[in-house]
Amino acid sequence: MEVKFQDQHPERLKTGLLALPVMEKRIDEPVLRRLDRLLRGGLAERIRKSQFTGAEGSSLLYSTAGRMRAANLLLIGLGKAEEINADSWRKAGARARKEAAGLGAEEIAFFFSPEKESELAAGAIVEGILLASYQFNKYRSERKPSAAIRSLTLCRPGLKRSEGMARAVKLALDIAPGVSLARDLVNEPPSVATARYLGEQAQRHCRGRGLSVEAWGKKKIQAMNLAGLLAVNRGSTEEPRFIVIRYKPAGRTKKKVALIGKGITFDSGGLSLKPAKSMETMKLDMAGGAAIIGAMSRLPELRPQIEVTGYIPTTDNLPSGSAQKPGDVIRYLNGKTIEVLNTDAEGRLILADGLALAAKQKPDYMINLATLTGACMVALGTEVAGIFSNHQPLVDALIRSGREAGEKFWQLPLVKEYREEIKSSVADMKNIGGSYGGAITAALILQEFVGEIPWAHLDIAGPSFAEKELLTCPKGGTGFGVRTLLRFLSSL
Ligand code: BES
Ligand code: MN
Ligand code: ZN
Repeated sequence: MEVKFQDQHPERLKTGLLALPVMEKRIDEPVLRRLDRLLRGGLAERIRKSQFTGAEGSSLLYSTAGRMRAANLLLIGLGKAEEINADSWRKAGARARKEAAGLGAEEIAFFFSPEKESELAAGAIVEGILLASYQFNKYRSERKPSAAIRSLTLCRPGLKRSEGMARAVKLALDIAPGVSLARDLVNEPPSVATARYLGEQAQRHCRGRGLSVEAWGKKKIQAMNLAGLLAVNRGSTEEPRFIVIRYKPAGRTKKKVALIGKGITFDSGGLSLKPAKSMETMKLDMAGGAAIIGAMSRLPELRPQIEVTGYIPTTDNLPSGSAQKPGDVIRYLNGKTIEVLNTDAEGRLILADGLALAAKQKPDYMINLATLTGACMVALGTEVAGIFSNHQPLVDALIRSGREAGEKFWQLPLVKEYREEIKSSVADMKNIGGSYGGAITAALILQEFVGEIPWAHLDIAGPSFAEKELLTCPKGGTGFGVRTLLRFLSSL
C-alpha cells in the first residue's frame, strides 16, 4: 500500500472513499460544513436524521452522487476528544478499510485532523487499514471478494510530511506482515501446522540480513537435554522441534534479548484430556511461538541494534500409550525437577526448557509469550494479556510499547506466598497449584527457570485468538504480541 501526504482540501481528492474522523459532539467542524455546502445541505441532513454524533465506534457512509470528486464520504466517530489515543486512529483506519471493501474501493483518502501526536495517528491509521485487510481464505472454495487497498492519501490544508510521520508510517508498514504471518500460522489447521511445519515456516520467513534459523529435531533435543519438550512429545506420533532464530545486527550491539514462545501445535490436554468443546480452538496454543516467528521475520526491516534470539519449543500434546502420565517426574537441564500431576498444564513444561536454555546465554532480558492459562482469560478476558515480571522497568517498557501498539497488558503479581501451592511431595515442584490463582502459580513455575535475569512472562491466552470478529481482525489468530514486541525491540 502506497501512503501519500497531501497539502489539500479534501474535496479536491478523487477517491473511492474519503474518510472523515469526527470527535464526539464536533459535527460542526469547518471541514464538514465546507463539504456540506458542496453537497447542498445533504450531508447535514443525513447527520441529523441518523443522529450521528461522532461517538466511538459509530460511522456514517454517505454517497456523494457525483457532486464531489470523492465517490463516498465516511464519517468515523472517534469518541470523546480527551479519550482519543493511537488506538482510536487505528480503529478509524480499520473502519475505513472495512467500508472500502464493501464499496470495492481500492483507494482511501483520509482527512488527517489530529492536532497533536500526529505521528502516532499517521502510523496508527496505516496500521489499522493493514490489520483489517487480513484474510485467511486458503480453505474456502468461494473466496470472499475484497479488493486490496492500493493507496492511502492523508490530506489536510497545510499538511506537511514530517520525518516523524514518515517513520511512523514505515514502522506500521514494516510490522504488519509480521502480524499476518503470526495469524496465518495460528489459523492453519493443526494437522498441517505441526512442529515440523513451524520449523519450516520459521526457516522460510526468517531470512535476510542478520537472521538465521535452526530447527532441532528429536536427536538434537535429546542431546541438549530438553526434557520437558520430550516429555510432552511422548504422546505424539509427530517429532518435536526446538526452533532457534537468531538476529545479529551489523556493527556494535547494545543489548541481548531472548524471546521464548510456547509452541503447542494442538493441546488436547494429553492423558488429562480436555472436554471436546475446550479443544475446538486448541490449535491456538502455538500463538506465542507464532508471534515470535512473526516478529523476528521483520527484524531485517527494522534493524534494531540489539541481538535477539527466539526459542520456540514445539510439539502437540496428545494422549497415547506412550504419553507421559500424571505422577511422572521431569528432570531439567538446570537440575530442577517437576512432578507432572496434570498433563494439560504442559505449556510450563516446555517453556521451562526454553527459559533454562536461554538463561545460559545471560541475555539482558528474557521475555516469554504463551497461551498459558485459562485462569488468565477468566481474570482479564479476551482483550487483555497478563504480564508478570521480576523487573519493573521491563514491565513498564512493555506496557508502554503495548499501549502504542494497541495491545493491552495488565500486570499481575508473582505472589511469593503461593509457592506453597506448587510444592511437590516427590520433586522440587509440581506442575499445578490449587483451585485459585492459576495464572499466578503457572508464572511462579516459570520463574524457577529464569534465575536473576530480568524477565517478563506474557500470558496471551485471551487476546491471541478472536472467537468473534474484531474490527482489526477476522475470527481466528490475532497475531497478538507481534506489534508490542517489535515496538519494544525498536525502542531499546
Ligand atoms: N493451552 C491451555 C490454556 C488455554 C486455555 C489457552 C484456553 C487458551 C484458551 C493450557 O495448556 C492449559 O490447558 N492450561 C490449564 C492449566 C491447568 C490444567 C492447571 C488451564 O488453564 O485450564
Ligand atoms: Mn494444556
Ligand atoms: Zn496448552
